[in-house]
Amino acid sequence: MEKEKFIDPWGSELPEDYAKLIREFGLEKFNVSDFPNPNKLMRRGLVFAGRSLGIISRAIKEKKPFYALTGIMPSSEKIHLGNKCVIDNLVYFQKQGAKTYMLVADLEAAATRGISLEESRKRALNYHIPAYIALGLNPRKTKFYFQSSNKEVTSLAFSLSGKATLNEYRAIYGSTSPARIMSSVLQVADILYPQLEEEMPGIIPTGIDQDPHIRLTRDIAKRAKGYKFFLPSAIYHKYTPALDGSLKMSKSKGNFIELPESSESIKKKIMKAVTGGRKTAEEQRKLGGQPEKDMIYELFKQHLIEDDKELLQRIKDNKAGKILSREDKEYAIELLNKFMDDFKRKFEKAKNLVPKLDIS
Ligand code: TRP
Repeated sequence: MEKEKFIDPWGSELPEDYAKLIREFGLEKFNVSDFPNPNKLMRRGLVFAGRSLGIISRAIKEKKPFYALTGIMPSSEKIHLGNKCVIDNLVYFQKQGAKTYMLVADLEAAATRGISLEESRKRALNYHIPAYIALGLNPRKTKFYFQSSNKEVTSLAFSLSGKATLNEYRAIYGSTSPARIMSSVLQVADILYPQLEEEMPGIIPTGIDQDPHIRLTRDIAKRAKGYKFFLPSAIYHKYTPALDGSLKMSKSKGNFIELPESSESIKKKIMKAVTGGRKTAEEQRKLGGQPEKDMIYELFKQHLIEDDKELLQRIKDNKAGKILSREDKEYAIELLNKFMDDFKRKFEKAKNLVPKLDIS
């Protein structure tokens, strides 16, 4: 029972009912018509909610300064297609004029996952940062930093820690621990830090699992009167389900696609994926497929098919029994291979660029 009232940013439990989430946590529904040039996640309802979206929508339309910031904890060595949604949204705001920040949560990884600062740095420089760049982040227009090297952020964290109470922590996170408390105050500082440089609103694209940190930041920002912070805005996307239809990505089950991934392994994983297809080709032609239950369509929708018309036509044809699941899988493999070739090429280029960037 207890569990339902909390989102645990360090846990692996995933919420299934998004409407309920919006109600229970007082999120704002995302309204695509408020945002110019929406990306495909926004157009297709995959971006479903946020906080204080109006101020960012206005900043974009009126060309006023604002920032977009997100952080990664390099706890996994590679990212997967699900993680790409955060990057797509960050890139979207960057293209709409946001001052852009990407931080590496190496202190959080040390405190909550026992990963050394050296290991985090290595993973971030050799993989995570180039991967973000390969996925569209403009490195020349992004400020990258490591939590452990940014003194302004740590100082701000110490100063803001005085504004939080233990009761508030319990109300937001349920149970907590010193490592989690330290990490979340630091994250509050990450989120507000760009406002020390310039008074402007900012938006944090993340998974919904990070919403507790956003709530804490908003509470603290309200109370930190001397600073005149704008309450941070946030934007959340739905989870990418695993290829077997479950919500949990599991390495041993091989049910998700990493970046990059070889064509053999793509083929193996896609061939095993759960579809909405019928038992036989004949049945499929008669009854039609069920794209809404089909993990291949989930991939088409979230990542692989850019053009809305093409996607809609394909969904229609699948429902009408004109496309067999085998054909969908072959097409997905083809698109994924193209995507990986492109990713690998950009990743190598980005890797060479990283040493030339000013990353502190
Ligand atoms: N806690 C985030 C994670 O688990 C990482 C993070 C640190 C972050 N600071 C941030 C995310 C600021 C968004 C904004 O991955």
